[in-house]
Amino acid sequence: MSSFLNEVRRRRTFAIISHPDAGKTTLTEKLLLFSGAIQIAGAVKGRKASRHATSDWMEIEKQRGISVASSVMQMLYRDHVINLLDTPGHKDFSEDTYRVLTAVDSALMVIDAANGVEAQTRRLIEVCRQRDTPIITFVNKMDREVRDPLDILDEVERELGMPCVPMTWPVGQGKLFGGIINLRTQAMTVFDSGSERLPQDFETHPLTEQAKLAERFGLEWAAAMESMELATGASPKFDKEAFLAGKQTPVFFGSGVNNFGVMEVLDALVDLAPSPRPRLSHLVVNKQAIEKTIQPEDEGFAGVVFKVQANMDANHRDRIAFVRVASGKFTPGMKLKVQRTAKELRPTSVVTFMSQRREAVEEAYAGDIIGFTTHGGVQLGDTITDGQALQFTGLPFFAPELFMTVILKNPLRTKQLQQGLDQLGEEGAIQVFKPEAGGAMLLGAVGQLQFEVVQHRLKAEYDCDVKLESCQYTGARWITADTPAELGEFTYAYPQRMALDAANTLAYLCTSPYDVRLAQERFPKIHFHPLREHA
Ligand code: G4P
Repeated sequence: MSSFLNEVRRRRTFAIISHPDAGKTTLTEKLLLFSGAIQIAGAVKGRKASRHATSDWMEIEKQRGISVASSVMQMLYRDHVINLLDTPGHKDFSEDTYRVLTAVDSALMVIDAANGVEAQTRRLIEVCRQRDTPIITFVNKMDREVRDPLDILDEVERELGMPCVPMTWPVGQGKLFGGIINLRTQAMTVFDSGSERLPQDFETHPLTEQAKLAERFGLEWAAAMESMELATGASPKFDKEAFLAGKQTPVFFGSGVNNFGVMEVLDALVDLAPSPRPRLSHLVVNKQAIEKTIQPEDEGFAGVVFKVQANMDANHRDRIAFVRVASGKFTPGMKLKVQRTAKELRPTSVVTFMSQRREAVEEAYAGDIIGFTTHGGVQLGDTITDGQALQFTGLPFFAPELFMTVILKNPLRTKQLQQGLDQLGEEGAIQVFKPEAGGAMLLGAVGQLQFEVVQHRLKAEYDCDVKLESCQYTGARWITADTPAELGEFTYAYPQRMALDAANTLAYLCTSPYDVRLAQERFPKIHFHPLREHA
């Protein structure tokens, strides 16, 4: 295999998803620890803390005790390059999370064994299902008094709408947690609490020592044997094709905080999770857009901006565009073009995200996430290439359900407000709508907390004190028509309802769900879109 192809094949890019408190941060840290990417436990939390200290606008994150930003970490394990994308857990930032999910090839779902599948996980699952993203499930906190494993499997199956395939099986739980049986190696690893132990330090016994294990773990052993038989009898065999098609999920049990069952997950990422997958794009030929699938091993460099973050470092007023490489090879100094504007991109730096630091990129391949530091000119959803004219599709924007009007307290800061809203809109922190009929700008959000973050950031980063007032709008639909004349008729009929978003896409603002229905009845040829894909 050529070295280029090998670089692509050895990459794994996944997102870790869970409901807050299920143990995502702990598991992330252990994965980094066991892959050798970090040396000390507590480093992930430590990193979070120092970010609070240096970044002003992250203050709000500290106040709320939630993670506003998503982060990216790269590690090397068993000669594989593993890119882990964290997702903000708070439901108000779900839009950000959805976009992160467009940048990965698989997902690791962490479940608290006492709580099962919780609300926030459910929404993320939906997005994975829509995209047929393969999901690996980790059932965490087996050292606690939790639910019956059969019960958990049943719930995961129902929620995911696909069969579970247990890869490990727990013996006991809580105070009587004896360990896990690895169904593939037919061996039991004995649980021991504490966070000092490395995975290979746990005691392991082959199941051929059945009698000894039965004696040692007594009733727990007998119950585990019975439930394991039921579970394996009821579930299909692991089928890699079915897993990759998002049609079954392998399930692992463990206790993240005790380093237990984590290595099995890390190995599954290498052995089971897919290498970078193809991505759909539009290729522009003679001003005509035609669909084209870009293969990760295609030679030309192409990537998509799935996240833009401003002022990560309070001392610099720049922005980082997070780009998921889709094909080709990136090398420093290469000429890049932003497809939307056809302008050359001249980043001040290009970085890769190691677990605790950013480093200058030496080379990057499909699956990698690289950060372009720029002073503008890049938007969420932009396609960046080495010159080829193509545009990736599939980065979703959801129609906001909450609206506020922005009132600037000091009118002399209008220009700064405009700049702030433009930038925050491009970042996707909030959606900004400019009414066609004039008047105050509108902010649209999916979660209430987004307003607070934006208000805070306008003050901290742009010195704009704003008041946010409620308004009559409760929804928006992006509109298109088959002919300009039809669109013209529609906008003529509803001049007060028309607004342009940050990407200058026309939207219809509504005050109730009936609004859309009525407008649709009156103008059957107009298309109302609840979701806009960047194109
Ligand atoms: P999150 O990122 O999904 O929000 O969860 P996080 O890892 O922060 O874990 C939430 C809490 O659950 C933490 O306790 C963590 O120590 C605990 N936890 C994680 N994995 C396990 C496990 O396997 N068993 C048990 N018993 N607990 C686990 P905390 O008290 O909120 O925080 P901390 O003071 O321990 O950091």
